Amino acid sequence: MKILIINGPNLNILGKREKEYYGTENFNDYFTRLQFKLKDVELSHVQSNSEGDIITSIQEASTNFHAIVLNAAGYTHTSIAIADAVKAISIPVIEVHISNVYAREEFRHKSYIAPYAKGVITGFGLKSYELAILSFLELDKND
Ligand code: DQA
Repeated sequence: MKILIINGPNLNILGKREKEYYGTENFNDYFTRLQFKLKDVELSHVQSNSEGDIITSIQEASTNFHAIVLNAAGYTHTSIAIADAVKAISIPVIEVHISNVYAREEFRHKSYIAPYAKGVITGFGLKSYELAILSFLELDKND
């Protein structure tokens, strides 16, 4: 199974940023560990601070990948255009967040993307990404 992880704005500075919410590990180190652990999954990762780049990644992924794990970060709470891109493609998307957005400010409780996602995983630290991938593997089983 080929899965693309798409990370949005400010997730390139994980490990340095608001450690109480996001921890101390940077995403590239976590990604290396994840790929090592989940050897049966072909993982790719892109990060962008720009809304348009994220939309292009979502559009292009639909022809090259089986599923997307999307952390649109701050754009989750603002972007109708990213939500439209998720709605437009046929491969499933799981929305993830590192922090528990429901335990934070009220503006983080709204997601424009969630209605078009297969599901949402929020609040498990970087493990949220692994849980999303394991969910796709579980859903892929014929049981
Ligand atoms: C985040 C939560 C968002 O509210 C925030 O803007 C982020 C990261 C998370 O992974 O917890 O940048 O998506």
